[in-house]
Amino acid sequence: MSDRVKIFDTTLRDGEQALPASLSVKEKLQIALALERLGVDIIEAGFPVSSPGDFKSVQAIAREVKNSVVCGLSRAVAGDIDACGESLKVAERFRIHTFIATSEIHVGAKLRKSQDEVLDMAVQAVKHARRYTDDVEFSCEDAGRTDIDYLCRMVEAAIKAGASTVNIPDTVGYTIPTEFGQIIHTLFNRVPNIDQAVISVHCHNDLGLAVANSLAAVQNGARQVECTINGIGERAGNCSLEEIAMVLKTRENLLGLNTGINSQEISRTSKLVSQICNMPVQANKAIVGANAFSHSSGIHQDGVLKSMNTYEIMTPESVGISKNNLNLTSRSGRHVIKHRMHELGYKDEDYDLDTLYAAFLRLADKKGQVFDYDLEALVFFDQQKQ
Ligand code: KIV
Ligand code: ZN
Repeated sequence: MSDRVKIFDTTLRDGEQALPASLSVKEKLQIALALERLGVDIIEAGFPVSSPGDFKSVQAIAREVKNSVVCGLSRAVAGDIDACGESLKVAERFRIHTFIATSEIHVGAKLRKSQDEVLDMAVQAVKHARRYTDDVEFSCEDAGRTDIDYLCRMVEAAIKAGASTVNIPDTVGYTIPTEFGQIIHTLFNRVPNIDQAVISVHCHNDLGLAVANSLAAVQNGARQVECTINGIGERAGNCSLEEIAMVLKTRENLLGLNTGINSQEISRTSKLVSQICNMPVQANKAIVGANAFSHSSGIHQDGVLKSMNTYEIMTPESVGISKNNLNLTSRSGRHVIKHRMHELGYKDEDYDLDTLYAAFLRLADKKGQVFDYDLEALVFFDQQKQ
């Protein structure tokens, strides 16, 4: 089995569908080009049948993007698939992604069909999509809550009908990692033609487990992860691209897996998506949050000044951030103040460290975080007194 995990980005589809305001064609194109630069294997550009605007965006992205496969989503109905085929045909390489729900609750309450009818719809949809391209992905919506015997039958039938990728979504973010990993493991053990397709996963984050579930899946043989920048998406969002990519990169020695992501583009892409989508990133968000490479405690600051890897498991440069940040607070030690003064261009003889540090602590106790201009002001006022 290959050790390469494909990254399928759905920021423009699953991510966009959860935004307060939809994006313009230009904004989507700008994000798509950033995703291409980031090294995403497949860009899910939208759901072409859903609106004329989405159709146009998918078409514009299909026309401009050259180094990633461009994908469109469709329900398992001919009209949706035709809209995908039409909007994508200008692309260098494209994929049609068709889906239908497979869990008892969705099949019974939402689709109001029998399992056999749904299986037949899936097979017909995959065959119909194959008229446009060999690159067809089929998703079993709500696979995480689907009866495993039915899921095995569905995956086998989709592959037989011509799906080259079969996606196993945890649509409602309900599973836990051991359970989700076991689902993937069972598929590999029980579906006879499974080696004819790439098994993909698409995990939602309702319990905060989307990245952990995706990781469990790749450890059990899945070789495509569907994810979004900053983890945006329906409800609590999707598996975050930057997190799964950096898990695989940082722990490559343990996991033996890799992606095509150019990690140095991560920070820039995250900021672009956050700004265009008007979705702020929480400060303590792994990899891309403002505090992800900030150190506040004096012990930690002293450690990283002596050797970065005391408290950093990856370098800020590896995700495109120029350097880490030492927050100056009442927990900061003299060593850090001296280091910051040096960075600001002061020589040891320009100020008295004992006096400055005492003044710094008084200010930090009142103010919380002390900024560079505060330090400079403390030095200035001390000089004035002399
Ligand atoms: O969450 C989900 O199941 C989806 C499918 C359309 C893949 O977004
Ligand atoms: Zn989804």
